[in-house]
Amino acid sequence: MRSIPRLDLPRGAKLETIEGLPPDLRNPPPGCRFAPRCPYRIEACTQQDVQLVGISPGHASACIRAQEIIAGTLVPPQKVQAAGTAALAQTGNEPLLIVDHLKKYFFVKAAGAGFLSSETATVKAVDDISIHVMAGETLGLVGESGCGKTTVGRAVLKLDEPTDGTIRFGGVDITHASHADMRGVRRKIQVIFQDPYSSLNPRMTVGQIIGEPMRVYKLVANRKAEHQRVEELLTQVGLFPYMAERYPHELSGGQRQRVGIARALALEPTFIVCDEPVSALDVSIQGQIINLLEDLQARLGLSYLFIAHDLAVVRHISDRVAVMYLGRVMELADRDQLYASPQHPYTKALLDAAPVPDPKVERGRAPRALRGEIPSPLTPPSGCVFHTRCPIVGEECRRVVPALRTLASGQLVACHKV
Ligand SMILES: Nc1ncnc2c1ncn2[C@@H]1O[C@H](COP(=O)(O)OP(=O)(O)OP(=O)(O)O)[C@@H](O)[C@H]1O
Ligand code: SF4
Ligand code: SF4
Ligand SMILES: [Mg+2]
Repeated sequence: MRSIPRLDLPRGAKLETIEGLPPDLRNPPPGCRFAPRCPYRIEACTQQDVQLVGISPGHASACIRAQEIIAGTLVPPQKVQAAGTAALAQTGNEPLLIVDHLKKYFFVKAAGAGFLSSETATVKAVDDISIHVMAGETLGLVGESGCGKTTVGRAVLKLDEPTDGTIRFGGVDITHASHADMRGVRRKIQVIFQDPYSSLNPRMTVGQIIGEPMRVYKLVANRKAEHQRVEELLTQVGLFPYMAERYPHELSGGQRQRVGIARALALEPTFIVCDEPVSALDVSIQGQIINLLEDLQARLGLSYLFIAHDLAVVRHISDRVAVMYLGRVMELADRDQLYASPQHPYTKALLDAAPVPDPKVERGRAPRALRGEIPSPLTPPSGCVFHTRCPIVGEECRRVVPALRTLASGQLVACHKV
């Protein structure tokens, strides 16, 4: 429970995690299987088999210290909070990445069109967004499923050709750069995907997966240097060198995600698009991966575009946050500002709807839900795209698209009524 970043508490410098990794099941630890990672461990824990026993009606626990924990005589150990990664964001310089008026439309078959019909409809997945990311900075991109986050990431990675707008990286316009032009830049922009399983080739060993891109880019002189570098990278992401011999299916999800990170780091990038990198992981491993990404950023000066739908995770890792809805940016602000005083009705609704991982706190909160469903991007609402769900919608909202403008606080907001 303590590993989960929380919106109802001040942002801690570092996420609490459970030390170590789940044990190797070929050789489980003696006694309590959780003992190697348990902060309450005493000698007895490893000397006896620990059984699940009833501690109150309907509640059983496999812990020899359960009664002490219930009695409240065991205080959870306070971990020393390591200093957070101070944003290395450079001010005054040109941003590392500039996305200007980006549009990405997909042309799909029109609904109800017959099998042979060529009638098409347009999905405005990204409709005129402008964002930038400074060197050493993390820009969080949040929004509900389908709002266009991945499409922005794919455009930045040059996996998709933009419909309109420009993308500049390191001072160079890469919007329409050819494959050959991109060769030098490609290395500098890497990606970490949500699902490490489908993004790692199942027929290659971990060593080959990490080593291959280095060979392609001739970053290593020979096989020996490649092996050495692979081992270095595995260690850097908290894996063991012997894991180079394993195949992806022989690793856990968290270990696979670390391999995905090692592969991204292999080419010494300056910028990483992290597309929901922790959404598939359980909360303690999620905490470890977030801490790892922050450590790597502090050490290597990396910039991240961090895409996620979890507002608490985004608050934890980002320096600035852009909130997207139906292909547009609704609000963009400094992290602390955005969470402490959200200005856009959509940001407010999202924050209101975000659950708090504490049953006591959660029970005390008023019932809340973002009303209505997210409209289809095939037929986005006129005017402000949020108007069908906005609690303070006005007449103008249905007609006029609100421009993103800067408030006195520095926050950027696209709303007629703010
Ligand atoms: N290749 C494609 N062809 C047609 N429509 C697409 C294509 N890729 C994405 N879309 C549509 O564009 C919209 C935005 O998709 P995108 O994957 O960017 O959303 P997302 O914000 O990443 O969502 P999630 O949180 O679920 O990952 C969606 O409506 C999606 O159906
Ligand atoms: S028995 Fe309880 S206190 Fe001991 S290691 Fe296991 S979980 Fe921790
Ligand atoms: S422009 Fe109007 S509909 Fe859109 S968020 Fe603001 S008040 Fe709501
Ligand atoms: Mg996505």
